Amino acid sequence: MARDWEMAYEQNETPWDKGYASPPLLEFLQQNPILGRVLVPGCGTGHDVRALAAQGAQVLGLDVAPSAVRKALAFPCVRDERYEAGDFLNLDAGHCAAYDWVVEHTCLCALDPCERVAYARAVQQALKPGGYYLAVFYREVSDYTGDGPPHPITPAESHALFAPVFEPLEAFVPAQGYASRPVGSEEVCLWRKM
Ligand SMILES: C[S@@+](CC[C@H](N)C(=O)[O-])C[C@H]1O[C@@H](n2cnc3c(N)ncnc32)[C@H](O)[C@@H]1O
Repeated sequence: MARDWEMAYEQNETPWDKGYASPPLLEFLQQNPILGRVLVPGCGTGHDVRALAAQGAQVLGLDVAPSAVRKALAFPCVRDERYEAGDFLNLDAGHCAAYDWVVEHTCLCALDPCERVAYARAVQQALKPGGYYLAVFYREVSDYTGDGPPHPITPAESHALFAPVFEPLEAFVPAQGYASRPVGSEEVCLWRKM
């Protein structure tokens, strides 16, 4: 059954929110600054958005749950970040070909696997030609039985989803992660829209 994201934020039942940005994303940023216009789909309360803004990007955090956006807006502004309530799978025209980067962390795994093709189409729509898609993919979810979210995605599945339109540039298993996500359960992948 689809999760009611708005109710989760209203009731503070958000175990995925660790209170700080994704360690694999921070690890990537240590070596590769991300600049320009950045979209973070499924941004939740915005920890990744603020980490990206702090190092100089113009960032939009988009989330389908208005209460997530309200909570994100309650944090002090870091630099050039904005938030918007909306459905990433149904982007407004204003978001199309508007971004240099789409940064993914725990949005794809939150969707039903049958929505993945629509998600990949949205990434493609949002990016400018030659834009970058940086993803922290959830490769292994402990005790996963098919009931999600989160839903892990295998390398073969992500390749099938993105390779037709995106060129893979880099992939690595991050050395750092949240305590609840052991090393090896996540992979950082960088793609460029062709
Ligand atoms: C597992 S949470 C992760 C939130 C945040 N990335 C974090 O790590 O704290 C998944 C997020 O995706 C959002 N979401 C789910 N479906 C979405 C959609 N179609 N468009 C935009 N956001 C969506 C949810 O509201 C939720 O905030």
